[in-house]
Amino acid sequence: MAEKYLIGIDVGTSGTKSVLFDTKGNVIASATEEYPLYQPHNGWAEQDPEDWWNAVCITLSKITQSVNTAEIAGIGLSGQMHGLVMLDRNCNVIRKSIIWCDSRTARECEEIESLVGHDRLIEITANPALAGFTASKILWVRNNEPENYSKCAHILLPKDYIRFKLTGEFATEVSDASGMQLLDIPGRCWSDEVLEKLSIDKSLLAKVYESPDITGYITDNASVVTGLPVGIPVAGGAGDNAAAAVGTGVVECGKAFTTVGTSGVVFAHMEKPVIDRSGRVHTFCTAVPGQWHVMGVTQAAGLSLNWFKKTIADNLSYKEIDAQAENIAVGADRLLYLPYLMGERTPVLDTNARGVFFGLSAIHTKAHMARAVLEGVAFSLCDCLHVLSEMGVEAKDMALCGGGAKSPLWRKILCDSFGVSVKTMESDEGPALGAAILGGCAAGIYSSVAEGCSIAVRDGKKLDPDVDNHKIYNTYYNIYKQIYPALKEQYKNFAVI
Ligand code: XUL
Repeated sequence: MAEKYLIGIDVGTSGTKSVLFDTKGNVIASATEEYPLYQPHNGWAEQDPEDWWNAVCITLSKITQSVNTAEIAGIGLSGQMHGLVMLDRNCNVIRKSIIWCDSRTARECEEIESLVGHDRLIEITANPALAGFTASKILWVRNNEPENYSKCAHILLPKDYIRFKLTGEFATEVSDASGMQLLDIPGRCWSDEVLEKLSIDKSLLAKVYESPDITGYITDNASVVTGLPVGIPVAGGAGDNAAAAVGTGVVECGKAFTTVGTSGVVFAHMEKPVIDRSGRVHTFCTAVPGQWHVMGVTQAAGLSLNWFKKTIADNLSYKEIDAQAENIAVGADRLLYLPYLMGERTPVLDTNARGVFFGLSAIHTKAHMARAVLEGVAFSLCDCLHVLSEMGVEAKDMALCGGGAKSPLWRKILCDSFGVSVKTMESDEGPALGAAILGGCAAGIYSSVAEGCSIAVRDGKKLDPDVDNHKIYNTYYNIYKQIYPALKEQYKNFAVI
């Protein structure tokens, strides 16, 4: 029988990655295309959906060159969550997408809480109103750009805009739709109550599927620009974190992963939608039909190191930065870093928060600062892990993934600061592999997401924590945790200058 292939497309924040896999999860070809992040004001973050689409076309054209495209059986989409894409009646993009790490919508969050009610909002959407989520972005455009809002005929998430370009369908799926704050999370459907209270017309929204469902097929137009044959099925796919869960085999209770991409996430699978009443972590539908997950989010994880690289480290490579940080002692000689460059979600939920180097002394060098950045991001992920364990969510089997997990030093810092054993995965394709597995389910190659994972996902190496380092990290972490509360009031004052 001829070999079959699957494609996973991950529309990330730094770039789009398209990967061609065989059905055993082996990478046959991979291509990445980067694009800019626009930050016109402090706390704003936008991207151009046309950049995403160009990147998808370029990367697909590259990866389809090495195989007989007739053997590509299915495609899955994954991507940065929460971003607002607005299309007009003619399906043209109205304005740049306001993306997940944009924090301009504090006022709209208050508006949402007063219209829906704080407790009711958490009951339905499993979260308090959050600036990162799509609903507040929709209201911001309505309040501030009424001319754009009046033109809006379709609202899509980033990867769902790509789906529209590939298939002509307006569709989404439960995991990504969970991050819009318009979905009934326990019910896995749009919440009529929230939509009515926010006066958002349901017809603007896409049809909601489960992640492994077929949502459409490659069209003639898409075929011309991507090199894909007409008619390949495109699965629902998943938001990048739910897709990474599939790509790391986190599809049953007790399994968890930590990813360090532009954002950082600690994610655990759940059979029931357990909700943190104070909203410090997100409870979302996961890519396994009828199941959920909980995740804590650090806004600026890889983003912190990328910022450090560009602004302080003279654009050294990540390897060179690691090599310098490795020579510095655990704790960076009493230097702490708070990674709140883009405000923060877990656990402080504060759009006004900003980054801090605490304890800076004349003895400190760039290498100390690099180590402090790596450790500060790890501490903020410790915060996520601790909220999960307070909620009684099991995270015994912890995988590490994302670009940051490619660094042996960052992996060790994460493992030692968490104080738990972690594992890498044989494939570091996380979200793209997860999306491809969902594509394989849609194509009928796998009978379920779990079966796809059992065939295509394999564990890599295990890493155990160093007990002495863990003790030192605990001492530092206890001080780290006190810094934000001490600054909270001043962050508020600073934001209105
Ligand atoms: C999750 C989140 C980020 C983005 C970008 O809630 O905002 O992880 O999906 O990766």
